[in-house]
Amino acid sequence: MSGFETVIYEKDGSVARLTLNRPQALNAFSVRMRDDLFEILSAIKTDDEVRAVVFKGAGDKAFCAGADLKEFLSAPSAVKARHIRSVRDLWRLFLSMPQPLIAALHGYVLGSGIEIALYCDLRLASPDAIFGFPEVTLGILPAAGGTQTLPRILGLSGALDMLLTGRRLNAQEAFLKGMVSRIVPREELLQKAEELAQNIASFDPVVVRNAKQALIHGLDMTLDQGLDLEWRLAAKIKEIRKSSKI
Ligand code: CAA
Repeated sequence: MSGFETVIYEKDGSVARLTLNRPQALNAFSVRMRDDLFEILSAIKTDDEVRAVVFKGAGDKAFCAGADLKEFLSAPSAVKARHIRSVRDLWRLFLSMPQPLIAALHGYVLGSGIEIALYCDLRLASPDAIFGFPEVTLGILPAAGGTQTLPRILGLSGALDMLLTGRRLNAQEAFLKGMVSRIVPREELLQKAEELAQNIASFDPVVVRNAKQALIHGLDMTLDQGLDLEWRLAAKIKEIRKSSKI
């Protein structure tokens, strides 16, 4: 798959790599980028060869500095925006991805950029990473899931602190709050993300996908329902194993 204007898509065996590629605009998230990501993720979702996905940003300064503010001036009407969201719901697509998603974060990780990162399952950051939700300071609401994903990761108190004030976190603060799982020197960031992806890809993909599903879906259930889900998924794996031996 190639020919995308704003995202570089590479597939290397069982690992897919997506590079947000508008470095001249700090990889700002544009309508074109939304469409490119939608097309690429739709293809990856049904590609059983892909066992892990790495997201990164091109250039030295940013993973993604948020929504393209220049496009805001020509934003479509609310009716059109709602229609586009119903046919190309990138954020629900992110949520429904069966493979583990790994974000390699450097520089500015703002607005839609942090929202993309929060859909990922593992977040690695270099020490220069800066995280923030500037939306409220711009007079808008985060609308790519941030109000929902952030409290699930930081807890309500930490999420309110970021969202209501626009306060930025550096990599160390993000690590201490549990938003990133590892801080890695800038020059090793991509290599470490790649190693992590290769490591996950070396495990049984059925187990990995079901483990992800149990965690992500279980979080929105009562403990009782979550235990049921875990039991059903474990039983499904046993069935798959049994039938593959026949
Ligand atoms: N949209 C479009 N272009 C952007 C951009 C954005 N979000 N962020 C940076 N750029 C462009 C700049 O316009 C500049 O382009 P030119 O060279 O053509 O002028 C280039 O990227 C480099 O940026 P700066 O010169 O500003 O770099 P800096 O190091 O001085 O500052 C920064 C970096 C603090 C991140 C600053 O660029 C900035 O504040 N950017 C905007 C951040 C922001 O508010 N993002 C939107 C959040 S809202 C959102 O994402 C949610 C939503 O759905 C609406």
